[in-house]
Amino acid sequence: MIYLLGVDIGTSGTKTVLFDAEGNTVASALSEYPLYQPHIGWAEQDPEDWWRATVETISSVIKKSGVNPSDIKGVGLSGQMHGMVLLNKEGRVLRPSIIWCDQRTQAECDQITEIVGKKRLIEITANPALTGFTASKVMWVKNHQPDVFNQIYKILLPKDYVRYRLTGVFATEVSDASGTQFLDVPKRRWSEELLNLLGIDPAWMPEVYESQEVSGTVSSEAARLTGLSEGTPVVGGGGDQAAGAVGNGIVRQGVISSTIGTSGVVFAHMDDISIDPEGRVHTFCHAVPDKWHVMGVTQGAGLSLQWLRNNFGGMEKDLAAHMDIDPYQLMDKQAEKAKPGCDGLIYLPYLMGERTPHLDPCARGVFFGLTASHGRREMIRAVMEGVAYSLRDCLEIIRGMDVSITEVRASGGGGRSPLWRQMQADIFNNPIATINSAEGPALGAALLAGVGAGVYKSVVEACDTAIKVVSVQEPIKENVPVYDKYYEIYGELYRALKDSFRKVAGITR
Ligand code: XUL
Repeated sequence: MIYLLGVDIGTSGTKTVLFDAEGNTVASALSEYPLYQPHIGWAEQDPEDWWRATVETISSVIKKSGVNPSDIKGVGLSGQMHGMVLLNKEGRVLRPSIIWCDQRTQAECDQITEIVGKKRLIEITANPALTGFTASKVMWVKNHQPDVFNQIYKILLPKDYVRYRLTGVFATEVSDASGTQFLDVPKRRWSEELLNLLGIDPAWMPEVYESQEVSGTVSSEAARLTGLSEGTPVVGGGGDQAAGAVGNGIVRQGVISSTIGTSGVVFAHMDDISIDPEGRVHTFCHAVPDKWHVMGVTQGAGLSLQWLRNNFGGMEKDLAAHMDIDPYQLMDKQAEKAKPGCDGLIYLPYLMGERTPHLDPCARGVFFGLTASHGRREMIRAVMEGVAYSLRDCLEIIRGMDVSITEVRASGGGGRSPLWRQMQADIFNNPIATINSAEGPALGAALLAGVGAGVYKSVVEACDTAIKVVSVQEPIKENVPVYDKYYEIYGELYRALKDSFRKVAGITR
């Protein structure tokens, strides 16, 4: 038998899934870890937690499945993008990782733009300087923690730190490397020009591979800890969005995905590189050789509903525990009872600032239009609708870039909710499809491992083997004009509040 392993190092936890060669799930395991927010807008994690969770989940799926580890032909890694892991010469982590949703680095973004020049920066990295990306995080350490900066030996991304612990090699791959803002995205290699301008030693960067290429093999120590066979190939893998796109079959022009995880992403494959001149959506290398992708990112998608659940969903949590179901199912049930558009209650999901389309780290979450008639069910539904409006913002920019859209596939935890999918169908005025697997990034990483191990000839062939559309939800005609009206107001609200967000940020910093 042939098995493939996908490990997805996410923000709330690491999920490891074992698949057979047809992409069917054989066993899976999840291990969670904390997110630290020492100041408003800061977000850090401990890389040791990622490694512990990786070891735990790999050993768990091997045990649960009972497969012979030597039948696992390859391992693929996927991970939250943009996080900065700094190692010293001994391979030790120098400080907690500053992760993707951290918003502390606006001054460093201005500094990068000043040093490199806005035009040149976009020519090289295909994107403007953004607080989410790794480069500004490294510059923050340079500016604020020079003692740490001076000890840097390697700069890694989250999944590539796990790769280092698994294989002993310092390596990354093009899709995740694109999100560092140190990569020459059109040429798919580190930009020495940029690194030199920013005072970052090119030797600190790991080797860059294409996503399906074998980057190393499981070391004897990692084999002992995880139960994998020593020497199992570990391929490049992908940033969670690119790996998730492979796991959703987004490997041809026309088919796009709309993902609601912690963040929300609308993702389109591109045969040729294309850049939004205003930088509102990201252009990165795809996990398919010589292809690129464009994606719009909303920072607080699933995060918004999770925030609501954690702070106000005690009742749902308790009841769900008794019923042995997910609290989100109970939240869905209540939201279903509110009207589309929530009688004018609109939510802006900017709990961690916003990327697409505003590129504004100062933006904040808002409930607008509350009346005494609104209750819990409208609050829940408004959060879900607000996230779908923010995904429409992403979609509209991608539509404006002349990227053809023939099919939208829902994915991520939010994609499992039929109600949230229907909202997307109505708000996008486009049918929403689902596929046979909900494993997204873990499946994508495993399929890439299958290509590296020679199980499939190409990434496209791997997707064609494993991925099938299983359902399509059409827009509900009468909801479309209702949502169109509220979507317009949703856009007006940000413009009206923009200056106030900035003032509040000035007071709370
Ligand atoms: C993508 C992004 C997020 C993180 C966490 O640009 O920042 O999707 O990768 O999921």
